Amino acid sequence: MKAIISERYGSPDTLILSEVPVPTPKENQVLVRVRASSINFGNYVLLSGKPRLARLVFGLMKPKYPIPGGDMAGIVEAVGANVTRFHTGDEVFGDLSSSGFGAFAEYVVVDEKILALKPTNLLFTEAAAVPMAATTALQAIRDKGKLKIGQKVLIQGASGGVGTFAIQITKASGAEVTAVVSTRNVEIAKSIGADKVIDYKKVDIKNHHQTYDLILGVNGSQSITTYKRMLKENGVFIHVGGESSQMYQTMVQRSWLSMTGKKKFSTFLQRANQKDLELMKELIEEGKIKPVIDSVYSLSDVPDAFRYFEQGHSQGKVIIEI
Ligand SMILES: NC(=O)c1ccc[n+]([C@@H]2O[C@H](COP(=O)([O-])OP(=O)(O)OC[C@H]3O[C@@H](n4cnc5c(N)ncnc54)[C@H](OP(=O)(O)O)[C@@H]3O)[C@@H](O)[C@H]2O)c1
Repeated sequence: MKAIISERYGSPDTLILSEVPVPTPKENQVLVRVRASSINFGNYVLLSGKPRLARLVFGLMKPKYPIPGGDMAGIVEAVGANVTRFHTGDEVFGDLSSSGFGAFAEYVVVDEKILALKPTNLLFTEAAAVPMAATTALQAIRDKGKLKIGQKVLIQGASGGVGTFAIQITKASGAEVTAVVSTRNVEIAKSIGADKVIDYKKVDIKNHHQTYDLILGVNGSQSITTYKRMLKENGVFIHVGGESSQMYQTMVQRSWLSMTGKKKFSTFLQRANQKDLELMKELIEEGKIKPVIDSVYSLSDVPDAFRYFEQGHSQGKVIIEI
């Protein structure tokens, strides 16, 4: 089969399109013919080996997982002897980032417990946008943020892969969404459900006087004192991603800030989860959520897809069609 191979840490130039054997599923695994994947920041860490601390997980000297690609949508080709939930021909999707990646290839083997049936109303290229980005937004909003109906939510950096799902999941949860995006993303933010939009190219959020129950720091960076001022008395700030200053400030100051008042500050790490994927399938089939796709690249153009993604300005998700 054709696969993108990453044999050493480095730039997208190190990625090579190669011929490798089709993998064989073990007892609890299914073999999936991959139809599409997408790029997340985790793929970028696996490619570059940066930050260096990540090499403890991804391999000290070279990538432990030679075929990148975490998000996957495809068709079950064969099943292992103990697989009960899936059958040949099922259309499935999943997040392979905690189980060895491998989706930038024509076939991949996947443990059945991390897969779900693909939403029936999505193309493979749309379904591949969902697993990591949507479950990141879901887990941040529901599990960490404990969002309630009617609450006010600010999403800092709402126009990328995670942010576009965060807007829609917040809206579907019955809360009011304010999205912070640049001028070119104002219309898309409104079209997917943002009640209010702050254009960070025109308005300095430091001069914004609204307060929020929940603030998600998804992209860009604001000082933690700005977030503190913008939180309601019992408000919660969740660091999801963005510039490293946003992460370090939260990591260093969260305990002290959380102890010295009722406002809470925390960081967060997404975990692949089958039940969350099934919930996303339901919400998508009910028409409450729709992936926003920036662009679609072929398998041989994965290096270009990375070069584009690493600029950090995609509107929604960057997809790989296989
Ligand atoms: N905690 C976790 O478990 C977890 C899981 C997944 C991802 N993440 C993190 O979440 C972050 C978002 O991931 P993603 O896949 O959504 O990224 P992405 O798709 O690359 O985000 C790109 C978007 O960010 C916007 N942006 C860039 N600079 C901005 C700024 N200063 N202010 C506001 N918006 C800005 C861009 O629009 P403009 O350039 O037009 O502003 C673009 O639309 C990443 O840092 C990633 O590492 C964390």
